[in-house]
Amino acid sequence: MTPFEAATHADPYGYYSGLRRQSGLLFDAELGLWIASDARAVEAILGHADCRVRPLNEPVPPALAQGAAGRIFGRLMRMNEGPQHLLPRVAIAPALAAVGTESIADRVSRVVGTLDNPFENLDELMFTLPVCVIAALIGLPSGRLQDVARLTRDFVACLSPLSDEAQLGKANTGGARLSELFSALLSDEGGSSGFLRHVRNGCEAMAGDDHETLVANLIGLLSQTCEATAGLIGNSLVALYRNPQLLEDLQSEPMYVADLVAEVARYDSPVQNTRRFVAKRCTIGGYVLEAGDTVLVLLASANRDPCANPDPDSFLLNRAQRRTFSFGSGRHACPGQQLALAVASEAILAWLHRQPASLASPCRWRYLPSLNGRIPRFYPDQETAQ
Ligand code: HEM
Repeated sequence: MTPFEAATHADPYGYYSGLRRQSGLLFDAELGLWIASDARAVEAILGHADCRVRPLNEPVPPALAQGAAGRIFGRLMRMNEGPQHLLPRVAIAPALAAVGTESIADRVSRVVGTLDNPFENLDELMFTLPVCVIAALIGLPSGRLQDVARLTRDFVACLSPLSDEAQLGKANTGGARLSELFSALLSDEGGSSGFLRHVRNGCEAMAGDDHETLVANLIGLLSQTCEATAGLIGNSLVALYRNPQLLEDLQSEPMYVADLVAEVARYDSPVQNTRRFVAKRCTIGGYVLEAGDTVLVLLASANRDPCANPDPDSFLLNRAQRRTFSFGSGRHACPGQQLALAVASEAILAWLHRQPASLASPCRWRYLPSLNGRIPRFYPDQETAQ
């Protein structure tokens, strides 16, 4: 198995454990990259100033360079270091942190009512619902939310190296359309949401009210939400399908759903790995990494490191001092973590509450093709899969 295959393998965790036993940081000559697999190495790489989110000579992947998707990609905080990272982050992260969980519960229930059968059509529950909730929070009008969720799915194709030309074309069209929608929203002072006012105050305080960067990073909130939260909801459903007793317990005691989602985020991360690119020769964990080296950072493996989480292969709702690397760490750590956990918990709660047929009849699943995401796609039992 390679660490890229591991992301969508039925059970990659024995393989990760073998890597950790060899060395928390090792060079894989065949793949031509470093692999960080234990908690200490993952934290060291993500915290290191010379381990950057993009290769120095390639701020935007060449396949995207000419289109609307590339113009957005090049401005995302996720894809930048220095001021281009810090400026949008300082404006946006506090606004995300200020969102109360009660308002998320309310938004989820409102959006659920507008979707096409999200409790049987799990794709709607996993992908459409979270993006609609974040789009509504930002202030996009309710009549546009589902369109925005579809455009976001088109746009996120530009983030995957597996996408073909047709998908990149759709990513450009989706990115361009989302840019128009957010530009219109930003020019409509009257329609501004509390969230957007919070973000704009942060931009002005930083003297960084760059319109295009703001638009790109608002789109970035939707694209970061899309697949990762779909995976979090999907892997929570997988945990319940795999453990009928757990499902029964949560049906009678739904207050533990937030614990379920938090443990799923650790145990079966929707984001299995991320990458870093070495900008300057540096020494990490006793190894010398050269400028130009690539490091594959196995977040899902660090979650199972017994030094970070005792008894790491047990699924424990009441795990004490849980350490979760699935949301990254260091300067690029996910600012949407609490929001994502809240949205996913509300989605699972709503699903349990409705008691849909998909709850009673066993479902099968297959992971969507990806080098880093672990997102199940569900099929009725008779159809196919794992
Ligand atoms: C409401 C949903 C979410 C929002 C709004 C959101 C937003 C973001 C943003 C803006 C960043 C870039 C931060 C930066 O570069 O400074 C980020 C990073 C990240 N997010 Fe999220 N996110 C969400 C859900 C999730 C979920 C469900 C996961 C996985 C469990 C996740 C995992 C990550 C990781 C691993 C990073 C860091 C990537 C890296 O350092 O390479 N996010 N998120």
